Amino acid sequence: MKTILVTGANGQLGNELKYLENSFTDFKFIFTDKQALDITNNEAILSFFKINEIDFCINTAAYTAVDNAENDQENAMLLNATAVKYLAEVCKEFNAKLIHVSTDFVFDGKGNIPLKEKNKPNPLSVYGATKLKGEEFALEKDALVIRTSWLYSTFGNNFVKTMLRLGTERDELNIIADQFGTPTYARDLAKAILDIISNNKVENIKGLYHFSNKGEASWFDFTKEIFSISNINCKANPIPTTKYPTPAERPKYSVMDKSKIVDDFGVVLKDWKVSLKECIEKLNI
Ligand SMILES: NC(=O)c1ccc[n+]([C@@H]2O[C@H](COP(=O)([O-])OP(=O)(O)OC[C@H]3O[C@@H](n4cnc5c(N)ncnc54)[C@H](OP(=O)(O)O)[C@@H]3O)[C@@H](O)[C@H]2O)c1
Repeated sequence: MKTILVTGANGQLGNELKYLENSFTDFKFIFTDKQALDITNNEAILSFFKINEIDFCINTAAYTAVDNAENDQENAMLLNATAVKYLAEVCKEFNAKLIHVSTDFVFDGKGNIPLKEKNKPNPLSVYGATKLKGEEFALEKDALVIRTSWLYSTFGNNFVKTMLRLGTERDELNIIADQFGTPTYARDLAKAILDIISNNKVENIKGLYHFSNKGEASWFDFTKEIFSISNINCKANPIPTTKYPTPAERPKYSVMDKSKIVDDFGVVLKDWKVSLKECIEKLNI
């Protein structure tokens, strides 16, 4: 039986992988949070791999506070890049396959057609720059790197939960309408990763791929859909980015082209509105 190590398992994606554990009974899973395995500690990673026989390592740990990273470059670089280098090197040494998750924020978002893996990244933020460095370290050691976007989940804090709360507390909300991307249910990403591991030869599992749900939306569209699914009567007002300045600049258009992951690994994509409804229904149970 192959063993999958999941790092950062208390986060959105980590929890979704945990949720799917019982549907992937061909694997043994080891879930580690920061306490059990701090991925910024190279010695700790080495000892962990010496004690446990790991076949796949899914790294979901990351410095994801995009705005905080602007004034905390050192820690963001340590977790999003240096730690990934440690993981990639140890995985290589122990013949384990690293699956690393990255972000659409590696792009500057100045275009208006879905971005492919071969498009040149040009991060606007510290978060994006540190994630790009992490990708490079992972790819150097033959890892699989999956970029995703606008993640939400029933676990942790995210945009969907924030809008569900604010929508019931306030009569109206101003929401950015000139940044476009694709909302992605972390459970769909978790399933895609486990399907890739289950259905493909390990030697083919490497390289850079894009994954998100299907379709595109602005934050305004996303909010309207959250309110509509949940019958929330709060009025959403569309505003431009200039009216809501944030420490970190975000890409204006970061919709990704997913044809490579579909063609190479047979991944099935779901529409973002269908997945959003599923997630909100789960939240209401
Ligand atoms: N969230 C998004 O919108 C989004 C969009 C695109 C891509 N991504 C990428 O998708 C991946 C998963 O994101 P997510 O939303 O699931 O992240 P998340 O919810 O922020 O989870 C990250 C986890 O990493 C843990 N962690 C922090 N430092 C660690 C360390 N030194 N060692 C081990 N674990 C540590 C955190 O623990 P503590 O909370 O205890 O610090 C947290 O549980 C990340 O690579 C992220 O960059 C996310």
